[in-house]
Amino acid sequence: MNLEKGTLHKSKDGTLILLRYPYKNDSIQLMNFINELVEEHAPIGANAKVNRKEEEEHVKKAIKEIKEKNRIQFLAEADNNLVGNVQIKRLHGKSMHVGELGIFIKKGYRDKGIGKLMIQQALKYARKEGIKIVTLSVFANNYRAIHLYKKLGFKKAGLLKRTLKDKGRYFDEIIMLKDMG
Ligand SMILES: CC(C)(COP(=O)(O)OP(=O)(O)OC[C@H]1O[C@@H](n2cnc3c(N)ncnc32)[C@H](O)[C@@H]1OP(=O)(O)O)[C@@H](O)C(=O)NCCC(=O)NCCS
Repeated sequence: MNLEKGTLHKSKDGTLILLRYPYKNDSIQLMNFINELVEEHAPIGANAKVNRKEEEEHVKKAIKEIKEKNRIQFLAEADNNLVGNVQIKRLHGKSMHVGELGIFIKKGYRDKGIGKLMIQQALKYARKEGIKIVTLSVFANNYRAIHLYKKLGFKKAGLLKRTLKDKGRYFDEIIMLKDMG
């Protein structure tokens, strides 16, 4: 798969999806994408909007980490918009063989199989880069995400009680793990 140029896929409903590496000039679209998720109170860790400068720095750092083989990250484009982001970030030191997965799909593009496609591709690349174990954290009531992770072979590894808080309400956090041996 040539991720510099991107590869084409089809979602469940036939929408064309381009999977590709992030570029420096994606920062404005990514900023808007993240800020929409924050506004939506999507079940992700971030709770504050990012500004252009912060996102530019973030994308610059991400591209550097991809080159250093410490990060796998793809964006999904559909209808000339960014609609998905997945990353697996390698941990340091004695946990170099472990990566942490994060994913978000734009509202209106969920439940079309894009998340599954993106995670499968990210896992394939993680394996190639020597990552053996992938972990993730998910809101315990994010049933859609948990369903998808289980389907892709992730297993529950732990439960952290009340470690997430949104709109004044506490939520439990589930840690999941996939051992790719
Ligand atoms: C969670 C997320 C990444 C999944 O990506 P996606 O593209 O929507 O997922 P897919 O379409 O590949 O798969 C979704 C699956 O969940 C199922 N699903 C949907 N709602 C569900 C629910 N309430 N309970 C259980 N399963 C549900 C779908 O039927 C589908 O399963 P199937 O293919 O077996 O029918 C995406 O919805 C998202 O970004 N949501 C908001 C942010 C978020 O939650 N990020 C994850 C943080 S850990």
